[in-house]
Amino acid sequence: MNNNYTFRQEENADHRTVEELVRGSFWNVYRPGCSEHYVLHVLRSDPAFVKELDFVMEMDGRIIGQNMFMKTVINADDGRIVPVLTMGPICITPELKRHGFGKKLLDFSLEKAAEMGFGAVLFEGNIAFYGKSGFDYSRSFGIRYHDMPEDADQSFFLCKELIHGYLDGITGVYQTPQGYYVDDGDVEAFDRSFPLKEKLKLPGQIF
Ligand SMILES: CC(C)(COP(=O)(O)OP(=O)(O)OC[C@H]1O[C@@H](n2cnc3c(N)ncnc32)[C@H](O)[C@@H]1OP(=O)(O)O)[C@@H](O)C(=O)NCCC(=O)NCCS
Repeated sequence: MNNNYTFRQEENADHRTVEELVRGSFWNVYRPGCSEHYVLHVLRSDPAFVKELDFVMEMDGRIIGQNMFMKTVINADDGRIVPVLTMGPICITPELKRHGFGKKLLDFSLEKAAEMGFGAVLFEGNIAFYGKSGFDYSRSFGIRYHDMPEDADQSFFLCKELIHGYLDGITGVYQTPQGYYVDDGDVEAFDRSFPLKEKLKLPGQIF
């Protein structure tokens, strides 16, 4: 692994480069095409966006990865509103995937989130990757995903405490910030401002 990488906060001048990176990395992975570059574009001006935790990873003067966080809540069963973070999109440029850079970027950004005093991060992801950075299934913390039946498979829904014991004594329902829900037509319109890329239906896509 090339250790010649650095992290810094995303700047306004990086926006388009980062959107191109996100588009290239997510393209045809979860669905034909992708929406994450537009999601990121929209979230940057959302009040729940955490500007201090909006990171890029650079190598040899080039942005090779990005990660970002949003504030959200758990609606606890006892009526409490518990502030937490959610995360993503996170990505690494396609040609450098599976070289260990994603884990470095993830661990760096989680450390910064912890330094800011946030208590826990919950989001949708693959335990095969996030488990290596200390994430577990959210159900083992007693936290359920919104709008799903009790007995549904929620193994996609992961959690990591940044403050040990932060979720002790809490059960409840996690809420995805509204900003993540984008309109397909808006995604299409935004995507047309990028070079044409072929959408493919591939095995393993979930949408
Ligand atoms: C997911 C992503 C950020 C991971 O970054 P990465 O640099 O490729 O991952 P790393 O090399 O740091 O992975 C560390 C370990 O996590 C596991 N892992 C990583 N990606 C995985 C995947 N897609 N499936 C299963 N295990 C995975 C592996 O055990 C890996 O070690 P190995 O390669 O020695 O087996 C990157 O692949 C990516 O940008 N993917 C496309 C966008 C995306 O899916 N983002 C996440 C949405 S939740």
